[in-house]
Amino acid sequence: MLFEEYTYFTYQFPEPQYLGAKHTHLAWIKKFIPDNVKTAIDAFAGSQSVAFLFKQLGYKTITNDFLNFNNQIGLALIQNKDTKLNEDDLKILFASANNKKDFELIESTFTNVFFEKEEAAFLDNFRANISLLDNPIKQAIAFAVINRSMTRKITMGHFGHTQALVYANDPERIKRNRSLVRPIKEIFEELLPKYNNAVFDNKQDNQSFHKNILELLPTVENVDLAYFDPPYCDSHADYQGFYHLLETYTEYWKDKKFINGIKRYEPQRISGFDKKRDVINSFVKLFELSEEIPNWLISYNNRSYPGIEEFEKLISKYRDVRVETKTYHNGRGGKGSVAGSQEVLFVCKPKKKHFVKTNH
Ligand SMILES: C[S@@+](CC[C@H](N)C(=O)[O-])C[C@H]1O[C@@H](n2cnc3c(N)ncnc32)[C@H](O)[C@@H]1O
Repeated sequence: MLFEEYTYFTYQFPEPQYLGAKHTHLAWIKKFIPDNVKTAIDAFAGSQSVAFLFKQLGYKTITNDFLNFNNQIGLALIQNKDTKLNEDDLKILFASANNKKDFELIESTFTNVFFEKEEAAFLDNFRANISLLDNPIKQAIAFAVINRSMTRKITMGHFGHTQALVYANDPERIKRNRSLVRPIKEIFEELLPKYNNAVFDNKQDNQSFHKNILELLPTVENVDLAYFDPPYCDSHADYQGFYHLLETYTEYWKDKKFINGIKRYEPQRISGFDKKRDVINSFVKLFELSEEIPNWLISYNNRSYPGIEEFEKLISKYRDVRVETKTYHNGRGGKGSVAGSQEVLFVCKPKKKHFVKTNH
């Protein structure tokens, strides 16, 4: 256990497999959290690892990611106080669905791309049954766990390639990773207890959203700390290219095209933080909209655009800023974290006011 002093640290965050997830940096990030925080926002929450830390620290936690599959994890583990999936819920989820013909998206789009036909049909059937669960938090747990099961099964843990079935038919690969050939149902059943056991009530009304952060910020009040972990622009930040399947499964899109070998949905959501042409403007808006939030922590990486110095200069228009770094010794967690690259944290506090004495 990392921080024995807190009761909620007996709950364990289920290990994610998500590009740029910060679960391995939480003890380091925690060192820079200021005292007296009551409410914190995790603005680009991804796997929800930092939101989970905030919840464990007893803060009222507002969490957000513009992708809905990440929001489902937020509803399941951050907003949720006490709801779990039980045996009766599993009977509902695994039953043969009545409305099968309305649920064929995965079979018709992804058979022979990521799944054999039978597994794709299982996913459609399960998806049809999620809507039969009687509350949205139960549905969110089902989404969080089934989506995690898909990243466990598919080689490399993302969907930006077309090697899934090649690897799943290669005896050498299977020897190294049995999940490639395990039924998704079996993986789901193995993972569910980890999610159920991570549900706790920190006596706050935590909330999870899936909005563009620039739309959400004007609606939140009385926040003491903002954690910003934006996609690292120019450093492999294509979340919708990597995780499109999870968003498609959650949204069950009726109005998108599915393009390229990987059948990524199109049009995509607009981030504003992943393209060089928009990113500076988006940060300016982000910082202006966060004017009322005194403390900011901003995760970054020394291979992103804008570079560290330019970014520090931009931040220093709004806050007193200090740069903390942690060097990776082995490359884990995607291209942005190759060996020798640095995890950076901008620790931002309100500007000290300089009083100039005037003689009247
Ligand atoms: C570096 S990841 C965050 C990782 C996270 N801290 C974790 O521990 O898993 C960046 C996240 O920002 C989200 N994102 C990108 N643009 C966004 C926007 N405009 N508003 C909200 N979220 C956005 C992406 O979906 C992605 O999950």
